[in-house]
Amino acid sequence: LSEQKHIEYTEHDRRFMRRALELAERGKFTTSPNPRVGCVIVKTAPENPEPIIIGEGFHLKKGAPHAEREALSSCQDNPSGSTLYVTLEPCCHFGSTPPCTDAILGAGIKRVVIATQDPYINVSGRGIDILRRNGLQVDVGLLEEQARYLNRFFFHRHQTCLPWITLKCASSLDGKLATTAGESKWITGPESRAHVHELRAEADTVLAGIGTILADDPSLTARPEKLSHDQFIPPMRAILDPLLKIPLQARVLQHHDTSKVWIFTSSQADPEKVQQLQNRGVSVRTVEGDQHSLNLRDVLSTLVDDGVLSVFLEGGPQIHTAFLEQNLVNELLIYIAPILIGGADAPTFYMGHGVATIQDSRRLERIERLTVGEDTLIRGILNWQLK
Ligand SMILES: NC(=O)c1ccc[n+]([C@@H]2O[C@H](COP(=O)([O-])OP(=O)(O)OC[C@H]3O[C@@H](n4cnc5c(N)ncnc54)[C@H](OP(=O)(O)O)[C@@H]3O)[C@@H](O)[C@H]2O)c1
Repeated sequence: LSEQKHIEYTEHDRRFMRRALELAERGKFTTSPNPRVGCVIVKTAPENPEPIIIGEGFHLKKGAPHAEREALSSCQDNPSGSTLYVTLEPCCHFGSTPPCTDAILGAGIKRVVIATQDPYINVSGRGIDILRRNGLQVDVGLLEEQARYLNRFFFHRHQTCLPWITLKCASSLDGKLATTAGESKWITGPESRAHVHELRAEADTVLAGIGTILADDPSLTARPEKLSHDQFIPPMRAILDPLLKIPLQARVLQHHDTSKVWIFTSSQADPEKVQQLQNRGVSVRTVEGDQHSLNLRDVLSTLVDDGVLSVFLEGGPQIHTAFLEQNLVNELLIYIAPILIGGADAPTFYMGHGVATIQDSRRLERIERLTVGEDTLIRGILNWQLK
């Protein structure tokens, strides 16, 4: 990658990149497995020193034009000589659409400002190099942290070959996820549950353990109030069930025409039950592990091979603990209700071995606190380098 000198960005640069990030965010329910990308094209007319936006666009979904092409085709004026702001390095390869570097060069753009380099191996610096070699001024790194956070699912997948894992749970003030009798409906209020539906709609997969399916009989579908069915991609539902205890009438096995169901199981599962589930259109995947515990990395690489970038982990406590103990969780979403449940045996979302000293505890980064109805949502990153 050609060297980049230190760049002094102007307030205009920051404003246009913020706009490009806003546009990118519009694709958050539909772009996967592609990244969220926004683009703004800006021109300064000789008679007016104030730069103005002449075109903008964002990537909507796989197979649709990339943000740069959308922005170029929306231009109100000839883009020749203008500056293009884009939240991710332009692609330089033939995927579902032709290279964006060709479109940028063809349009006579003079300067390209890029928030962050693409982690995808077929691009990763090559798009930047092509533009520089063709004489364009290319500045990389403006609002980089925000751009990477927006595309954290995509970055994590391409940097680690693992999906981004968001652990979500509903907890009492004393940290319990259920009563000692196993009841958890409903710890949090209706506003929190509506909030969860929107976040499920952003994920590629909602995953739960068989304990939760047997206790709560959830459907695990995304039913966001503010989105119509064509405004998001229904997440696939995945269940970890080593011995295929799932009842054939379970709610999660319904509606699999609109949202696929995958059950991960062990080689010890009953072949007759496998057949019964397959007859209902369920995909049964045998992974490594035993009758109590499936190999989580094997589960995750099977999901990644199917194009999954993100997993929304919905429990229960044993599954949460297993993912946390193996350091696989990237983000926590803890909805805390103002109630006390008590009971030494009532589960918390993180049991495991624990640490001996507070110094060894894990601390969240980029923490957000939100009031949702009567509940409080604490959200943060557990395991990821933004830079
Ligand atoms: N408040 C909340 O946010 C929330 C969310 C979900 C659930 N819950 C509550 O949590 C309770 C159910 O949770 P749970 O802990 O009993 O069950 P769970 O975590 O949903 O499922 C645990 C089961 O998953 C299977 N499994 C497969 N691979 C595993 C692995 N690598 N590590 C651990 N387990 C693996 C095992 O099945 P086998 O049993 O076949 O060995 C294990 O018993 C219910 O009371 C439910 O209401 C609360």
